[in-house]
Amino acid sequence: MLILHEERLGIVMEASGRAYAPHSEDRVGAALFCRDGAARFVGCNVENATYGLTVCAERVAVFKAISEGVRKFRRVAVAADTGTLTPPCGACRQILWEFCGDIEVILVNLEGRTESFRLKELYPRPFDVSFID
Ligand code: THU
Repeated sequence: MLILHEERLGIVMEASGRAYAPHSEDRVGAALFCRDGAARFVGCNVENATYGLTVCAERVAVFKAISEGVRKFRRVAVAADTGTLTPPCGACRQILWEFCGDIEVILVNLEGRTESFRLKELYPRPFDVSFID
């Protein structure tokens, strides 16, 4: 089943190649595809010697988009060089929920294996603004 257009597969794989991951050596890429046509924002994980300051590929992509004034998204693809497809971490699920809602999340490995989810499947009972008085 083709769930990610070949060009989009290339975009997210290329993003993983730009990862700064000297500590874990896990290179992750994310591509956030906007609702209006071809616009997209890519991110890679950016690690730090203190470890805790590391930022995941998904959050880099989301923050790039928000800081460029884009707020409407259709899907996010996450690429990693792992046999078992790498899903977004908990922090990224929360950030994706805030800005993207129940977006399509496509996981990809560098052999081109893909699997698709709705964010709600990965993050079934999210915290959001509705819980804030
Ligand atoms: N990582 C991501 O970039 N995205 C995820 O969803 C999972 C984890 C990164 C963070 C860290 O640089 C490395 O993968 C190992 O955890």
